[in-house]
Amino acid sequence: MDLKGLVLAAGEGSRLRPFTFSRPKHLIPLLGKPMIQYTIDDLVNSGVSDIGIIVGYFGDLIRDVLSDGSKFGAKLTYITQEKRLGIAHAIHLAIDHGFIDKSFIVYLGDNILSSGVRKHLEKFRERGSEVYILLSKVKDPSKFGVAVLKNGRIERLVEKPKEFISDLAVVGVYFFRDPDLVEKAFKTLKPSWRGEYEITELIQWFIDNNYQVDYDVITGWWKDVGTYDGLLEALYMLLDNVNERFEGDIRGEVIGRAIVEKEAVVEGRVYGPAYIGRNVVVEKDTIIEHYTSIEREAKILSGSLSRSLVLEEASLDIGGLRLRDSIIGARSIVKSRMGNHGEARLVISDYSIVEF
Ligand code: G1P
Repeated sequence: MDLKGLVLAAGEGSRLRPFTFSRPKHLIPLLGKPMIQYTIDDLVNSGVSDIGIIVGYFGDLIRDVLSDGSKFGAKLTYITQEKRLGIAHAIHLAIDHGFIDKSFIVYLGDNILSSGVRKHLEKFRERGSEVYILLSKVKDPSKFGVAVLKNGRIERLVEKPKEFISDLAVVGVYFFRDPDLVEKAFKTLKPSWRGEYEITELIQWFIDNNYQVDYDVITGWWKDVGTYDGLLEALYMLLDNVNERFEGDIRGEVIGRAIVEKEAVVEGRVYGPAYIGRNVVVEKDTIIEHYTSIEREAKILSGSLSRSLVLEEASLDIGGLRLRDSIIGARSIVKSRMGNHGEARLVISDYSIVEF
């Protein structure tokens, strides 16, 4: 069975403002790759290369960056969702457009899964499921769609439950066998309290009409990157999986698992797991501590950084300060007077200037 892929990337990412004032969250880089590329790479590695991208907010930027997809081994088709009317609506658009004309996999462009979707795709095929979803145990189920199980089957799916009914969240990856049935289900939906056609309600239609809806509970990590903390947690998880790769010029010291990309110059110290992007400068007297990523062309002139993300072309000159759990926006300039010491947490938007 040959599947098509559908990646959803139309959302405004309001909880990631101010970073999403200047680009969609799907283009925020993590370890040198825009977030959405993790999704595309996972699909391509699973044998799904004919992929539709649902765009809306900053859609042109996404098109510019991903282009026709050939550099990722994919063939991309863009479909615009003018109004953010939810996941089920986005799927409907792709069917209506004619792109989805066979079995397909929907992947939310802000979901990152450590183990990927390949083996789930195989199970979906083997079991002959009508719909196949992934579930993951979470601590905060009220932020997700959740599944209530009974005798090993899904009985009910509820979007953002106010009261606790299950700790099994629905992951943002969904497999469907028959687009005609999905359309039939979509026609029965009404917008929810948040004004969206909910994916959970779409799948509930299949359950209520006795179609074969299967699931798997995933055990590896999964992140839906919607907030600052989510972004940093995704970064930490990705860094947990890096293997040492030094391609830049290391004149200082790199200890532990780290990636140092081409044309990066490290004169200071780096403690892995860490990522030093292309053309990054890490000056001497600078310490890049664990779980930090410095994206392409950023300059760290002085200071220490721990568990932080520095976006492209930012410049930091913070003397005796140590930043932790911080996000420094692209092309921002952060300078601190020499007398400042101790620890700080900064979350600074793109194109900002901070001198203190
Ligand atoms: C969406 C879905 C939800 C799912 C989540 C996974 O939520 O509606 O069922 O659990 O993605 O990322 P949203 O991102 O719209 O809050």
